Amino acid sequence: MVRDSGRVISALTAYDFPTAKFCDESGVDLVLVGDSLGMVVAGLQDTTGVTLDQMIYHTQMVRRGIERALLVSDLPYKTYETAEDAVKNGQRLIDAGADAAKLEGGLGQVHKVEAMTKAGIPVVAHIGMLPQRVVEEGGYKKKGKSDSEADILVQAAQDLESAGAGAIVLESIVPSVATRITESVSIPTIGIGAGTKCDGQIRVIHDIVGGYPWFVPPFANPHADIAAEYRRSIALFCEEIQPQSATK
Ligand code: KIV
Repeated sequence: MVRDSGRVISALTAYDFPTAKFCDESGVDLVLVGDSLGMVVAGLQDTTGVTLDQMIYHTQMVRRGIERALLVSDLPYKTYETAEDAVKNGQRLIDAGADAAKLEGGLGQVHKVEAMTKAGIPVVAHIGMLPQRVVEEGGYKKKGKSDSEADILVQAAQDLESAGAGAIVLESIVPSVATRITESVSIPTIGIGAGTKCDGQIRVIHDIVGGYPWFVPPFANPHADIAAEYRRSIALFCEEIQPQSATK
């Protein structure tokens, strides 16, 4: 993935064949099989219950829908505790059809990114707010608010780039710090809740089509109300099959 001065990289999540195909046909640059599927597909409270087998299954579905875009898949919680695990499990995502594997974390993950890169596994890093740590951290919190936190994020981004990461997701980072990170690395930064100055923007697909009305993050900006269409169609179906229905 390269920086292109004129265009912002577009990235969306997809978890199944039709959504992947919609993204691919619409010209999305990067499709992520995010472990956010634990929440928006499986109805879990957070992403920590997602397994590697589930990520493999969804990666296979998404692969069938993509001809053009870059396909990135998340290594789920606790599947990359060691460099050996990161390589072994990252390779399983590649074997399932991913072009690259994404892992969460900063300085502590540098040696794992290095090992994966050496093993020929393209890596996307992910720093800032880390959904896999939401239980440990007691909620979703903006990152980079203090000078020391900002400095650590910049250092992490630089070290992850040196270790071989091909791109970095910046999640829920103070926009000025996200800009600083973007200016201090040469690989693309892809932001979510990190301001407008990143090289790319990524969103959970449900957040832009209005597909998960029970939780809408502040940066979602939905362009459709798919939930309303589901409800309307379901109500019409339930009505039309009744014996006295005029729409039958
Ligand atoms: O799992 C996911 O969907 C993600 C994006 C929010 C970046 O990691």
